[in-house]
Amino acid sequence: MLDARYSTRTHTCGQLRAEDAGTRVTLAGWIAKRRDHGGLVFLDLRDRSGIVQCVFDPDASGPAFAIAEQVRPEWVLEFEGVVHARPAGTENTAMATGAIEVVVDSAKVLNPSGTPPFEVEAGIETDETMRMRYRYIDIRRPEVLAALQLRDRVTQRFRRELGHRGFMEVETPILTKSTPEGARDFVVPSRLNPGKFYALPQSPQLFKQLLMVGGIERYYQIARCFRDEDLRADRQPEFTQVDIEMSFVTGDDVLAMMEDVMREVMREAGHDLQVPLPRLTYAEAMDRFGSDRPDTRFGMELADLSEVFASSEFKVFAGALGSGGCVKGVCATGAGDWPRSRIDALNQLALDAGAKGLAWIAFAASGEVKSPIAKFLSETEMAGLRERLGVAPGDLALMVADERDLANEVLGVLRLHLADELGLPRQGFDALWVVDFPMFKWDAEGERWSANHHPFTRPFDEHVGLIESDPGSVLSYAYDLVMNGNEVGGGTLRIHDAALQRRVLARLGLSQDEIATQFGFLLEALGLGAPPHGGIALGLDRLVMLLAGAHSIRDVIAFPKTSSGGDPLTGAPDAVSPRQLKDVHLRLE
Ligand code: AMO
Ligand code: AMP
Repeated sequence: MLDARYSTRTHTCGQLRAEDAGTRVTLAGWIAKRRDHGGLVFLDLRDRSGIVQCVFDPDASGPAFAIAEQVRPEWVLEFEGVVHARPAGTENTAMATGAIEVVVDSAKVLNPSGTPPFEVEAGIETDETMRMRYRYIDIRRPEVLAALQLRDRVTQRFRRELGHRGFMEVETPILTKSTPEGARDFVVPSRLNPGKFYALPQSPQLFKQLLMVGGIERYYQIARCFRDEDLRADRQPEFTQVDIEMSFVTGDDVLAMMEDVMREVMREAGHDLQVPLPRLTYAEAMDRFGSDRPDTRFGMELADLSEVFASSEFKVFAGALGSGGCVKGVCATGAGDWPRSRIDALNQLALDAGAKGLAWIAFAASGEVKSPIAKFLSETEMAGLRERLGVAPGDLALMVADERDLANEVLGVLRLHLADELGLPRQGFDALWVVDFPMFKWDAEGERWSANHHPFTRPFDEHVGLIESDPGSVLSYAYDLVMNGNEVGGGTLRIHDAALQRRVLARLGLSQDEIATQFGFLLEALGLGAPPHGGIALGLDRLVMLLAGAHSIRDVIAFPKTSSGGDPLTGAPDAVSPRQLKDVHLRLE
């Protein structure tokens, strides 16, 4: 709470109430609004705590009245005066201070202001780049201020809850060596080491593991992370994690700790989180929702139709099934009478998501059936499909025949799109764990296995024997926290055995030399008394975005970057002088 201590004022604008009537106050803030009313001038004065109405009377206010006549919005002023109850009938119940006004007898202009580039009000329709260019003005607006206040409360609550549970906050380096989290590194040239570069951390992953080797046992950090990746509404090049690591734990211990802490944090933000949270395995999440971050606030689950079409004559289905794939589908309830153009748009979406095609059957409310493929299907197949998908007249059946992972993924994309198109209600908070991720995924482009989470993730004990022979079947002690279809956090148990860590790195295609140069320090540490350990990192920006009901993490970051990674306020990134380049031994092409 903002109060008047340690300042030139006696009260804050937002704190004044009916009981303060008669009190003499000194206030300071910004002019929010000015109105002239038959001789009287009303100025609304705003500080972080709120807004209060101040009145200037040509007779009673003396020289302050002349100042009141001259000021404009966003000027910075100091007022002295007396709090009065507002005359009956003029109270404003929409304002916290609406029962009173301050009759001012002395005013001082602390700083005039130019005309602000946009209005300091809720719900303005201003171009976002403009808001970012003048972010300090934007921050005066109620919704931006509220988001930053919520972020502060959430952050403080994390610190408090983690602190109570024996977690120590430890800072880790920003100028460091590459940590593989799957994105590109930002690199920083070293003046003192010609030709060498630091990498900014994609996460504190390896340092938090080293802290466990160091015997810290329970670590956390509100940690800034840097990833040079393509930006989206939920991705910024620098973002903040609530980063956590624990020693002598099972996966269940980490999840139980996180649920307890999250329940308190959510309560701080006015939400009641029911714990323990439901858990879905990765396989089940993909099978039912076509996503490893499923939004389970609505149904429309995917159905496996492979059995229905096991002996189908339709060559698209027969082909996919014959080569070990599947036929899966989803029922778009209420889309049975959609015009062809809308169905074509779904088809395009499926193709963009990697499908070879989208099979559809529209069951009009009238009973009529329209479809380019129905003619290839038998009566039994149509009946089976209706039954498995739960289709009724008025619905649209959509099917993808392909390799299983791809079919799931495409239908998962369609499912979310359809929920928006059909206006399915997605209210309330839906939080769950997705667990048991595959350890490796096949990178078709690089023609190699890559780590699904990161290479320090511990494979299931019973799958360790498959690392070389059947990497695709190896599951890992990995878990993601999913809220409303967003990946809010992710973590794993770690490998604490140097030999196993070597095997995993080798499986990822690293040579013994690369392993030694990139991860020698980690392997050495694992051989010097590393306890079993594991942890998690929450995306603080994403969590606060959800709690604030915002649609972009930019809305909950004080000084965010645009989608091309720029900062319209400072002009970063910017050129540097030839001298600076020379200092770091660089020449531009
Ligand atoms: P991961 O890479 O899953 O795990 O990151 C953890 C969480 O950070 C958030 N996040 C982002 N938020 C905004 N912008 C980004 N560019 C961005 N990238 C990630 C997500 C994500 O769930 N070291 C591991 C954690 C661990 O294993 O303990 C890690 O960084 O909400
Ligand atoms: P075709 O025989 O290629 O003309 O395809 C007939 C119909 O099946 C078209 O509507 C295609 O969009 C659809 N289709 C093609 N490939 C697939 C697939 N892999 N899964 C689902 N539908 C498909």
